[in-house]
Amino acid sequence: MLEEVLTGLQKPQKALSSKFFYDERGSELFEQITRLKEYYLTRTEYKIMQDHIGEITSAIGSESVIVEPGSGSSKKVRLLLDHLPEVSAYIPVEISEEYLTDVVNELRREYPDLLIKPVCADYTKPFQLPEIDKAFEYYVVFYPGSTIGNFRPAEAQDFLKLLSDFMVPGGGLLIGVDLKKDSTILEAAYNDSKGVTAAFNKNMLVRLNRELDADFDLEQFDHQAFYNEKKGRIEMHLVSVQNQTVHISGKSIPFKKGETIHTENSYKYSPDDFKMLVSDWFEVEKIWTDDDDLFSLQYLIKQ
Ligand code: AVI
Repeated sequence: MLEEVLTGLQKPQKALSSKFFYDERGSELFEQITRLKEYYLTRTEYKIMQDHIGEITSAIGSESVIVEPGSGSSKKVRLLLDHLPEVSAYIPVEISEEYLTDVVNELRREYPDLLIKPVCADYTKPFQLPEIDKAFEYYVVFYPGSTIGNFRPAEAQDFLKLLSDFMVPGGGLLIGVDLKKDSTILEAAYNDSKGVTAAFNKNMLVRLNRELDADFDLEQFDHQAFYNEKKGRIEMHLVSVQNQTVHISGKSIPFKKGETIHTENSYKYSPDDFKMLVSDWFEVEKIWTDDDDLFSLQYLIKQ
């Protein structure tokens, strides 16, 4: 982590990976974000799932194995499982072992007849799937939340390739994709009035102070989020309020007033953009959206 952080902070445009957001406090703050009125993504996706659950589950089919990379609390998958009593197995893939164990224990109580085979892994790197009776190896990957938007397009494609490598032709990918829209709505979603997103962004610095013996002064950095129209993405940054020097494990990092650390990209796609992005591996079979075309849930089929 130290090496990656120092490399990122010595680039001409200072940058830190958005994966560093998610320590315990960061995950908690993200949970709070998902409940904010301005952050339409989570509730809109859930509503789309509720409104079209019949069509969604018939696309998935009854004897499939559901694989969920970055399963977290496994909240949304419950909606699928409740409507797919015949599903063969559920494979949550989660990096935090403690979290995974707790969630799986809960799921086993709630779904006593369901075969659950958890995998503790960083899903962005190749990982091994558990052995399941060959007859049922019809994988459907569930990747909600528009997390795909946090990858740069080329990285998103590496990930799509990784997924398609363990799927058989005909296998499905049920994926949440946030749509391009008026920048006012987008910018409000990442600049909420309660300041939760600002706290989430700044928590990265709190984490560096604690884990890498850094001395970031939180008062001296501001949250910034804006829509970069040309790149089709929300960018989050931390802006240095003044000229200052920060120390990380003994290394000095100078900041000019107004200089930023780029902490996250959140790409927004039109249905056509997304179709192009996936076209080497997947065909778009079906797109479900909400009435205001804010968000989409897409069912892709491996070619
Ligand atoms: C996890 N991910 C899809 C969120 C997003 O909208 O890009 C992370 C987030 N960043 C700020 N608010 C939410």
